[in-house]
Amino acid sequence: MKRTILETADGSKTIHLDEWDETYHSVHGAIQEAIHVFIKQGLETFTESNELLRILEIGYGTGLNCFLTLLSTEINGKSVEYLGIEKFPVTAPEFEAVDYFDQAMDNFPELSHRKDEFRAYYDKMFLADWNQWHQITPLFKLKKESIDFFDLVHSTDSLVDLVYFDAFGSRVQPELWEEDLLKIVSDRMKPTSVFTTYAAKGTVKRGLTKFGFIVKKKPGPPGKREMMVGYRLKQDE
Ligand SMILES: C[S@@+](CC[C@H](N)C(=O)[O-])C[C@H]1O[C@@H](n2cnc3c(N)ncnc32)[C@H](O)[C@@H]1O
Repeated sequence: MKRTILETADGSKTIHLDEWDETYHSVHGAIQEAIHVFIKQGLETFTESNELLRILEIGYGTGLNCFLTLLSTEINGKSVEYLGIEKFPVTAPEFEAVDYFDQAMDNFPELSHRKDEFRAYYDKMFLADWNQWHQITPLFKLKKESIDFFDLVHSTDSLVDLVYFDAFGSRVQPELWEEDLLKIVSDRMKPTSVFTTYAAKGTVKRGLTKFGFIVKKKPGPPGKREMMVGYRLKQDE
């Protein structure tokens, strides 16, 4: 499918699928959306915990959410294992064209004196071979897995604490927002875990509730009224 590059309202770029008229990120601001939905409403739930954090991303795409996670957890000194699922990897020209590096760094001024080091990590994440674990920084491990989301049913990786559900919208891929995939994903999550997504869809709320989550609507990022976070707690908590 033909993919072209667009600029979003916060100046950061995104990829547009011409045939579907669908973008990888919000046109109201790719970086703003990623920080709001995945970092603030997802990752920051775990700020108080010192334990290794396992994250699963549904739709690795450009790696933007992954890089923002690396930056954010570096500040807290938190160790992360990050599994990103992506069937149609972004190409090198696309990765260069979106180039999130400077704008991502601007959101973490505490790290500005280590810019060269993080540029190397940013590139290393993109260049890392698929389907194997890589130590990107002393704290951050990454595996990019090039499989269909539904193939996660065969996964033998450890269960995760946090899911970033960043699939294309239900207008173009409705099958990704139904119970079957939600069951597969929630089976990859620990008994105490968090699921965050930019969407606020009834099917997702019903599915997650069925699989043991308490689902809360949250204010969305700029340009979007609502988003959703699911919290699963062990029975005895
Ligand atoms: C909304 S984009 C993800 C954006 C990404 N998180 C980022 O920050 O760039 C959705 C991603 O899901 C991938 N995708 C779509 N259908 C898929 C499937 N069935 N299995 C695996 N990946 C799929 C697309 O190629 C695309 O990269």
